Amino acid sequence: MFSRIAKRSFSSSAAQNYKVSVLGAGGGIGQPLSLLLKLNHRVTKLALYDLKGAPGVAADISHIPTDSKVEGFTPENDGLKNALTGTDVVLIPAGVPRKPGMTRDDLFNINASIVRDLASAVAEHAPNANVLVISNPVNSTVPIVREVFKQKNVYNKNRLFGVTTLDVLRASRFLSEVVGTNPANERVSVVGGHSGITIVPLLSQTTHKDLKEDVRDALIHRIQFGGDEVVKAKDGAGSATLSMAQAGARFAGAVLKGLDGEKDIIEPTFVENPIFQNEGIDFFATEVTLGPEGVSKIHGLGEISSHEEELISKAKEALVKNIAKGQTFVTEK
Ligand code: NAD
Ligand code: LMR
Repeated sequence: MFSRIAKRSFSSSAAQNYKVSVLGAGGGIGQPLSLLLKLNHRVTKLALYDLKGAPGVAADISHIPTDSKVEGFTPENDGLKNALTGTDVVLIPAGVPRKPGMTRDDLFNINASIVRDLASAVAEHAPNANVLVISNPVNSTVPIVREVFKQKNVYNKNRLFGVTTLDVLRASRFLSEVVGTNPANERVSVVGGHSGITIVPLLSQTTHKDLKEDVRDALIHRIQFGGDEVVKAKDGAGSATLSMAQAGARFAGAVLKGLDGEKDIIEPTFVENPIFQNEGIDFFATEVTLGPEGVSKIHGLGEISSHEEELISKAKEALVKNIAKGQTFVTEK
């Protein structure tokens, strides 16, 4: 059995054992995400759950010779309970993806109840786990998880994350294409939320703050609406899956490093954040430091340009509604 107490008594210099669960592991994101997690040496147990397909994915990747045990679960035989019991990190990519012409908010009617029900199971079987929400619309699904956890008295604001890492990947990639550099060297902080104008890349904090205004605006627009490029190219077959798997694996890897006691693990993520709470915006993505208890520090915005201030104020107008929509979905039922 995995024991948190036993784990903490080890020296922080040696990598510990972690169980990671993927809910929605049979899907477009879930499959490559599970593959990438199988390659992470900190993951020693990988539990894959889906309504269908997870046992096949588990059997497939279990042949990869890394030092971890993979198991697949379906709803039969207490599958969700068994996938979650003893887990340290839960990733949730369960839910439907967009088709051309849809916004992420159009997914709310289907995905809200999927996420609510999975959150309820996490509260019951893994109340201390770190929960990484991928299912869209993230700006609303993360508040849904919070409300479910609050109702079940297990909410810990330091352990609930909306995964916005794909925006960070896009920002570094698209910026590098504009300025002709290696994206591996371009780190961009992306704040706000995860949809359209709520995505605010802080380009003024990079070494490329003097981009011409039209170039800057086109770049910001591409980062904000990058998801649409993939939805259009997939032509009805879904949205980003492979780049999202990389983003999810990177963020989960950062969370695991934090749990493992590594220092200075900093990533942007959509968390309960005091920054604009007095304006009724309970969640906001900023950079956070990840540690043994999940979020150990929430960073402010740092120095931003007046243009970025304008972008953030537009983002806030949308976010306040997105967050309220998620919250009331749970509280008004
Ligand atoms: P998909 O349809 O390929 O896979 C979704 C999987 O979820 C399916 O296998 C399905 O069986 C499973 N599922 C549905 N209900 C379930 C339940 N109650 N329990 C367990 N599994 C369940 O979709 P996808 O392309 O993998 O996308 C999944 C979600 O991720 C979508 O909502 C999409 O919009 C979102 N997404 C988010 C980001 C982000 O940056 N946060 C990026 C890309 C996609
Ligand atoms: C993305 O940013 O690619 C995802 O949120 C999926 C989508 O609907 O665009």
